[in-house]
Amino acid sequence: MAVASAPQVLLSINDVSKAFPGVKALDHVTLEVRPGRVHGIVGENGAGKSTLMKILSGVYEKDSGEIVFEGNVIDKVTPVQSMKMGLSIIYQELNLVNTMTVGENIFLGRFSESGGRAGVHAKARALLDSIGSKVNTHRQVSELSVSDKQMVEIAKALSFDSKLIIMDEPSSSLTADEMTKLIQIIHDLKNKGIAIIYISHKLDEIFGFCDVVTVMRDGHVIATRDVSSITRNEMIAMMVGRTIENEFPPRPEAAGETILEIRSIKTRKLRDVKLTLRKGEILGLVGLVGSGRTELVRALFGADKVAAKSIYLDGRPVNINSPIDAIKLGLAMVPEDRKLQGLLLGFSVEQNISLAVLARLTEYGFIKDKEEAAVCERQIKALNVKTPSGKTKIRTLSGGNQQKAILGRWLEMSPRVLVLDEPTKGIDVGAKYEIYLLMKKIVEGGGSIILISSELPEVLHMSNRVNTICDGRINGEFDPSTASADEIMAKAFEFA
Ligand SMILES: Nc1ncnc2c1ncn2[C@@H]1O[C@H](COP(=O)(O)OP(=O)(O)OP(=O)(O)O)[C@@H](O)[C@H]1O
Ligand SMILES: [Mg+2]
Repeated sequence: MAVASAPQVLLSINDVSKAFPGVKALDHVTLEVRPGRVHGIVGENGAGKSTLMKILSGVYEKDSGEIVFEGNVIDKVTPVQSMKMGLSIIYQELNLVNTMTVGENIFLGRFSESGGRAGVHAKARALLDSIGSKVNTHRQVSELSVSDKQMVEIAKALSFDSKLIIMDEPSSSLTADEMTKLIQIIHDLKNKGIAIIYISHKLDEIFGFCDVVTVMRDGHVIATRDVSSITRNEMIAMMVGRTIENEFPPRPEAAGETILEIRSIKTRKLRDVKLTLRKGEILGLVGLVGSGRTELVRALFGADKVAAKSIYLDGRPVNINSPIDAIKLGLAMVPEDRKLQGLLLGFSVEQNISLAVLARLTEYGFIKDKEEAAVCERQIKALNVKTPSGKTKIRTLSGGNQQKAILGRWLEMSPRVLVLDEPTKGIDVGAKYEIYLLMKKIVEGGGSIILISSELPEVLHMSNRVNTICDGRINGEFDPSTASADEIMAKAFEFA
């Protein structure tokens, strides 16, 4: 006989606390997760979301409190034990072994029980197929895009017979297509009675497919509600502790004379790309993954070999053969994959911020400590980076706060041209607003910005002009004050 009452509790977290040096990451957190439910968790950068999940998965040990999973009190577990118990986690910072193949990663440490080499690859193939991923199981993980790595992580979680799957900001590196697949996967898992904890800064996702949502702030649970009983504004207010009238500041005024002109860039992928950027302008660049947007930026900065390249700065031709040349000319870029290309994880927040201005801070080969600290202090304040101090290792900051720190590095350089590749990925609603204000400040100070973003509302609200890039060429130009999101997407999807 079917029972109509609410499903029983799968996981209960009672009064759990955790402190790190200088930070109370979790303060008496209580939470219940039920099978067959998608449980969203939202909260500002540094609220404690990832820490809570890492306690569940055995990466950190709680200081106090109780965790009960399937009726058993879980005191100390290792990450492997927690997976075998049926609790899988896909980490925000991804956790694959770069030097191994896809198949080896999915069945890491389980080769013999998985039928050896051949068995591992066959099983990995089946798992990836089940989530619609075509990535070759024999490829080395270091060669994969961020989104492919994400799919490998999901396949790995599925390979354990998990009862609870935790996804820590999975969507921040997925394409629209992959996201559609992920939602389907989540739906299937849910129907099998599996519980999902879904952490995200994208409120559309919380309202789109979560059943329950918990809002965290400063290590506390503010509230847990059925998604159907809460509005977007209520949720934002709970997250940031105040009401936000508008998610975007007014669009900055544009724009002066042409500062940067790409007369031509040709590579194997790019087909004679031309682009102009004016002084004080924010130019939005919209394209799908694979459209050539990353190649364009890499070619501009001299990071990759090009077949032909003609660039003018202030009306004069310039040679940019390496990123160092670009920096010397006042061009800066915040890359999308910040962990790989941007952050020095073993170094302090201070050192990471001052990297771009080292030349200015160096005297006879020594870094002027006081100035480094002052520069860092200023950016930590400006961006509201949550860190105990500038000396703290950047590795220990929350994901979003690492992003803000690296943004601070380039802002400190006050570049003439700043390329921002997905600048608000993983950043909370309140901090996004701060970043928009900073962008405004840069252009009002005479700098120019190329904004690459898959967040269309962000592009529409912040840019003065939008170019679409598709199949290796710029194929459209729009005035974002009049164009619709649909028009722009249609152009970005149009294949030649
Ligand atoms: N290993 C660590 N050592 C020291 N402090 C840490 C460590 N891990 C996390 N913290 C601190 O604990 C707090 C909570 O961080 P956590 O990563 O849980 O935030 P989050 O809610 O996941 O944020 P985000 O949305 O930015 O990912 C932060 O202040 C962070 O700096
Ligand atoms: Mg986090």
